[in-house]
Amino acid sequence: MADFTQQPSGSRIAVIGGDGIGPEVVEAGVRVLEAATEGVGASPLSFTRFPWGCEYYLEHGRMMPEDALETLAGFDAIYLGSVGWPTVPDHVSLWGLLIPIRRGFDQYVNLRPARLLRGVESPLAKPGSLDVTVVRENTEGEYSDSGGRLFRGTPYEIAVQDSVFTRRGVERILRYAYEEAKGRRGLLTGATKSNGISITMPFFDEIFREIGEEYPDVEASLMHADALAARLVLDPERFDVVVGSNLLGDILSEVTAAVSGAIGIAPSANLNPEGQYPSLFEPIHGSAPDIAGEGVANPAGAIWAGALMLEHFGRPEFGERVLSALEATLAAGTKTRDLGGSASTGDVTEAVIERLRSH
Ligand code: NAI
Ligand code: MG
Repeated sequence: MADFTQQPSGSRIAVIGGDGIGPEVVEAGVRVLEAATEGVGASPLSFTRFPWGCEYYLEHGRMMPEDALETLAGFDAIYLGSVGWPTVPDHVSLWGLLIPIRRGFDQYVNLRPARLLRGVESPLAKPGSLDVTVVRENTEGEYSDSGGRLFRGTPYEIAVQDSVFTRRGVERILRYAYEEAKGRRGLLTGATKSNGISITMPFFDEIFREIGEEYPDVEASLMHADALAARLVLDPERFDVVVGSNLLGDILSEVTAAVSGAIGIAPSANLNPEGQYPSLFEPIHGSAPDIAGEGVANPAGAIWAGALMLEHFGRPEFGERVLSALEATLAAGTKTRDLGGSASTGDVTEAVIERLRSH
C-alpha cells in the first residue's frame, strides 16, 4: 500500500467534493490531513480536485467523464464528499458516480466504524459503550440487477430479484472481517437470516464457520439480523466487529451510526484491500441541501474518513492522531449545531488543526 512516508512523491489523492455540503466538509478534511502529515517527507500527500457531480451532470449529461475510472486509477486513494442534488434524480447521481467507482475498482469491503466520541451525546448509548466496526459486503448479495418483472399491470404481476452469493465473494469478505476482529478485541458477530432466507444465508453461515477454523483466537458467533439490530441498540458494548451481506450490513451500519449520535460524524471506507485499485473514503452522510452553503456542516465524518485513509496507507498512528484531535475538539465543546453546539465548519476545522500542531 502507498505509504506516504516511504515514497518520494508521497501519496496521491483524488478529491471529489461532489454536491451540497460535500465540498465544504471534504476541504475541511484536506486541511486536517495536511496538518496531520506536516513535516513528514517532502510532500507526504498531494490532492487533485475533480469537479464531478450534479452540476457537472447538468452541463455534460453525465456525472463524470467517460474515462473517469482510468483517470482515478492513477491515484492511491479517492476522497469523496457526497453526491446528490434535488435537480438530478438520486438513482442517476448514485449509479453515475459512486456505484461505478465501487464496482469498477472492486471495492468489496465497506468498512464503517462507529464509536461514541467524547463530547457527543447519543440518544441511547452511554459514553464509552459503543466501539463497533461494521464490515459490509459491497459488490454482490442482495444488490444485484438479476431479475425482472412480468405481467405488468395485471393482477398476476410478478417481480423477482435474485440474490447473488458467490463462494469467492463470501469468503473474501468473511476473511477480511476475521482479520479485522483479530486486530481489535477478537470478537466477531456474523449477521444472518438463515431462518427465513433458506438458501443463500445458510451458505453464508457455512462459510462463516469454515473460515472461523482458521481463526481460533477470534470468538465468533452468528446472530439473526433482526435480533442483532435490537442488541446493537440495547447493549452495544457487547459487540466489536459485525459482518454482514450487502443488505444486512447496510442496515446494521446505519443502526450503529445512529447510536453513535449524529449522521454528520460517521465515516465509511470502500476498500479494495489488495490495493490493485484505489480505495474510496467518505463521510456516510449526503449532500444535506437544507444546510448547504451556510458553513454549518459538521466536518467530523469527513475528517474521520480522512483518518481511515491514513490508516489504509499503512500508517494507523497518523489516523489515530487525527481521531484523537477530533475527539478532544468535540469534548472541549467546539462542535456544530447538529451536535448541540454553535461552532461553524471552519471553527471545528481550525480547532482540530490547532490541536494537531500543538500536540
Ligand atoms: P443527508 O445525509 O444529506 O441529510 C439528512 C439530514 O442530516 C439533513 O437534515 C442534513 O442537514 C443532516 N446532515 C447530514 N450531514 C450533516 C452534516 N455533516 N452536518 C450537519 N448536518 C448534517 O441525507 P438526504 O437528505 O437523504 O440526502 C440528500 C442528498 O444526498 C440526496 O441527493 C442523496 O441521494 C444524497 N446522498 C449521498 C450520499 C453519498 O454521496 N454517499 C449518501 C446519502 C445521501
Ligand atoms: Mg445506507
